[in-house]
Amino acid sequence: MTAMVRAEGVHKSFGTAHILKGIDLEVAPREVFCLIGPSGSGKSTFLRCINHLEQINAGRLSVDGELVGYRQKGDKLYELKDSEVARKRRDIGMVFQRFNLFPHMTAIENIMEAPVQVRGETKAVARARAVRLLDRVGLADKAASYPAQLSGGQQQRVAIARALAMEPKLMLFDEPTSALDPELVGDVLDVMRGLAEEGMTMIVVTHEMGFAREVGDALVFMDDGVVVESGHPRDVLTNPRHDRTKSFLSKVL
Ligand SMILES: Nc1ncnc2c1ncn2[C@@H]1O[C@H](COP(=O)(O)OP(=O)(O)O)[C@@H](O)[C@H]1O
Ligand SMILES: [Mg+2]
Repeated sequence: MTAMVRAEGVHKSFGTAHILKGIDLEVAPREVFCLIGPSGSGKSTFLRCINHLEQINAGRLSVDGELVGYRQKGDKLYELKDSEVARKRRDIGMVFQRFNLFPHMTAIENIMEAPVQVRGETKAVARARAVRLLDRVGLADKAASYPAQLSGGQQQRVAIARALAMEPKLMLFDEPTSALDPELVGDVLDVMRGLAEEGMTMIVVTHEMGFAREVGDALVFMDDGVVVESGHPRDVLTNPRHDRTKSFLSKVL
């Protein structure tokens, strides 16, 4: 079976700052893959490498069997053109801590935007899907609301619907509930749980250990640019083997 994401010895530096120091991991199709670790350990950087917002400096990184940013011919690598990178990026949905909705567009317009502008869909087709997606994230009645009229949790659910509108094969979540008031976190996690049940492949950077334990298929603890420990979430969370993992978990659990 082809891994949805495969990282082999992935390194990333910014100038002289060595951030990712040889990441090896594999995400299987339909898997909910949780990534935890202290602030600054390189989690966001790794997600950004997966959809080629950052270029890796060494190692190999592939999504659904294809190298990120390169085409391989024999044993030679050729850099992809920007247009090819953009096309591949469409297969990957990304949800950020800050929802980044377009403030001057309504919820439904936010969801319709990329399918119409990027994929050239008709507005009618894009609108029909957006209606379905709004319903799916529990916001059927908010189609005409602007982001400023929505709570953080509602905005984040619109952001998830917007990412889903491009029908991605992989979803990346970067601390999707970290900016939310505690009482709004549950609705967002419920939407993510539903996606997981439908079989979406997801990489989730999160501090929600309850979610990781209940929904996650795999958990990786990252610190200082390396994978310290990985395994089934229940095992890692209840029986961490490394001191660094124990110390981190004692602060967040
Ligand atoms: N574009 C960038 N230029 C320089 N340094 C960066 C850049 N992006 C991230 N970093 C640095 O990389 C390190 C890891 O950051 P990040 O991946 O955001 O960590 P995490 O998401 O685990 O908190 C931090 O020290 C951060 O300052
Ligand atoms: Mg981060």
